[in-house]
Amino acid sequence: MRYFLAIITMGFFFGCQEQPKQSVVPAAKAEVVYDMYDPSEMAQLMNKMYAHNQTLKQDILAGNIPVEFPMDFMEIHSAALTKANMRNETFEHFSRIFIEAEKAIYDPNASEPIEARFNTAINVCISCHQTSCTGPIPRIKKLLIK
Ligand code: HEC
Repeated sequence: MRYFLAIITMGFFFGCQEQPKQSVVPAAKAEVVYDMYDPSEMAQLMNKMYAHNQTLKQDILAGNIPVEFPMDFMEIHSAALTKANMRNETFEHFSRIFIEAEKAIYDPNASEPIEARFNTAINVCISCHQTSCTGPIPRIKKLLIK
């Protein structure tokens, strides 16, 4: 029992919800526990995008200009979500804007400074999260270049 609660707490902590709401998740619901323990394709992609942008930020701050847009980001258009109905019009809209913003970071002919283009992309991460998955927002904000 204590073991299951620990998994639920972790799932909520890393996932979309900010605070563990154990009262609304009966520990008896094994399928819920399973979902939390086994991140969706989308959750895994999101964690990869987080790590990638963290490295990208360090590169930009060190004065290295990134050259290659990571094509696996395109999986945002197909990766399975924890809840399939999360892939709605709003999600599709923000994924298109996000891919455009992330690609602009790698555009050698862009007129805007790279720091600004990077922050634009991160702000799209945040905008989409405000509509669908607020939990990770404080972590995502840490990616912004001050
Ligand atoms: C189009 C909307 C959208 C965009 C853009 C977006 N996210 Fe997400 N993000 C989501 C949704 C929805 C989930 C929940 C996925 C699921 O549970 O299947 C999520 C989940 C996450 C998670 C939690 C993963 C986990 O382990 O549960 C992190 C961290 C995250 N996103 C970071 C980012 C970062 C960083 C970016 C930008 C580089 C970004 N997201 C862009 C919608 C978006």
